[in-house]
Amino acid sequence: MKADQKKWDKRFGRKEFALGKEPNPFLKNHIHLLPKGRALDVATGEGRNAVFLAQNGFEVDAVDISEKGLKKARKLAREKGVKINTFLVDLDQFRIEKDRYDLIVNLYFLKRRLIPKIRNGLKKGGMVVFETYLLEHRTLATGGPKQAKYFLKPNEPLRLFKNFRIQFYREGTFREGRRRKAVASLIAEKI
Ligand SMILES: C[S@@+](CC[C@H](N)C(=O)[O-])C[C@H]1O[C@@H](n2cnc3c(N)ncnc32)[C@H](O)[C@@H]1O
Repeated sequence: MKADQKKWDKRFGRKEFALGKEPNPFLKNHIHLLPKGRALDVATGEGRNAVFLAQNGFEVDAVDISEKGLKKARKLAREKGVKINTFLVDLDQFRIEKDRYDLIVNLYFLKRRLIPKIRNGLKKGGMVVFETYLLEHRTLATGGPKQAKYFLKPNEPLRLFKNFRIQFYREGTFREGRRRKAVASLIAEKI
């Protein structure tokens, strides 16, 4: 969507990395559980997670609607001496080839219509790593999206991946650095 592109290009247009260069802690802490191979990072932003996956031996496709974000993702990959494949796409229209990926990472980007495509795009035995805000995050006033549609309802990820084997699930309010956030985190395997 054009409005999303404009918003995120503006946010990622600055020199510094808006979301940092370090990977998402949930992904980092569970990297040992994930099957090696071909990975897709949806809504990669400035590429912190895609680059981390490449550093861990994955062949990574990183997709996002922000060209500014993807440019920084490529810069970060160069800095770390790894290669990632970047694609400028609108995830409203994106198609994922059936049984293509060993791993799909979907962090802090909630588009419910994308979930069936993620399920379909994973190989059997492949895994999804998913984390984003719960509705109660809104009461914390520590940043994040504005519109209600971008927040998860209780146990919603378990429903979205109900035919998968759940490898890890938690919901709650946590402190990450100085910031408090209410999130759901899931790792699930296609069976
Ligand atoms: C909160 S950021 C998350 C970035 C990344 N997953 C991370 O954890 O660092 C949300 C991302 O979604 C992307 N985005 C928003 N709408 C999109 C769309 N329709 N298609 C593709 N990407 C989109 C933005 O450009 C932004 O990079």
